[in-house]
Amino acid sequence: MVELEVDGRPVKVFEGQTILDACRKVGIDTPTLCYGETLEPANVCRVCVVEVEGARVLAPACSRKVEAGMKVRTDSERVRHSRKLVLELLASSVDLSTTPVAPDYLARYAAEPERFGPQAPPDPGRDRRRTGHHVEPDGQMAATVHVPVKIDNDLYVRDYSKCILCYKCVDACGEQYQNTFAIHVAGRGFDARISTEYVAELPESACVYCGNCIAVCPTGALMFRSEHELREAGAWHEDEQTVTQTICPYCGVGCNLELHVQDNTIVKVTSPDDHDVTRGNLCIKGRFGFQHVQARDTGTD
Ligand code: SF4
Ligand code: SF4
Ligand code: FES
Repeated sequence: MVELEVDGRPVKVFEGQTILDACRKVGIDTPTLCYGETLEPANVCRVCVVEVEGARVLAPACSRKVEAGMKVRTDSERVRHSRKLVLELLASSVDLSTTPVAPDYLARYAAEPERFGPQAPPDPGRDRRRTGHHVEPDGQMAATVHVPVKIDNDLYVRDYSKCILCYKCVDACGEQYQNTFAIHVAGRGFDARISTEYVAELPESACVYCGNCIAVCPTGALMFRSEHELREAGAWHEDEQTVTQTICPYCGVGCNLELHVQDNTIVKVTSPDDHDVTRGNLCIKGRFGFQHVQARDTGTD
């Protein structure tokens, strides 16, 4: 075990655990955006930063391993200022309207993203921007990552206006889970965005529609088409939904499914993160093959 201090409170955690684990053990609620329970820390959003005594720079709690005798401060002026700035820059350039934790974090750190001015509208050319060819900001509006929503298949939509570039989808699609490598980061700096190869539409890409990228996306940038359409119609009522656990009937692996049901209709399917075998992942059949459950017309007389 490793002994350290978090905000003056002694805590013991296992060797190899992170400052975030130590914070959780003493009940300190640390904001995280790019951290996912089922993935290696990507360490990119920096909203979880803390002060470690003796260190020159702030440390990301989600990935920094604990060391014996460490003295960590999670709520100092410097930490609060840094978290506020990160949130302001994100909220001024990204649509966080479907990021569940965003309102709480913005209020907690008194973030004022509106001080950068009104957000620039969606730019259909953003997907094809070439590295080094930047669009000059007009100084009147906050530069944004806004692009038109991509609806190119029946199963899920991609709204990269909501993308915080946390890399979770890339890691889930790539070597950490799916090994399909259908998506990656294209571009550099502010032009960086998630893309298929040569910006191909999903049906022409390597995507196998497992939906494992949707499962890890923290912002709703990747979303079931069923959820997207209900939200567009103002009919998405998460507080009225029930979640029923069951076993996927399609093969002998027996993945656990969570059926999200609204008005007696399945509106999306997830899988529990803490399942030893699947760790939140599914294949196309378990993730999207649910319409037959509610089909009234079976096609037989
Ligand atoms: S649905 Fe699966 S294969 Fe397609 S982009 Fe997402 S993770 Fe990759
Ligand atoms: S689409 Fe979602 S999971 Fe992928 S980088 Fe953007 S916010 Fe992260
Ligand atoms: S949650 Fe730690 S860097 Fe993003």
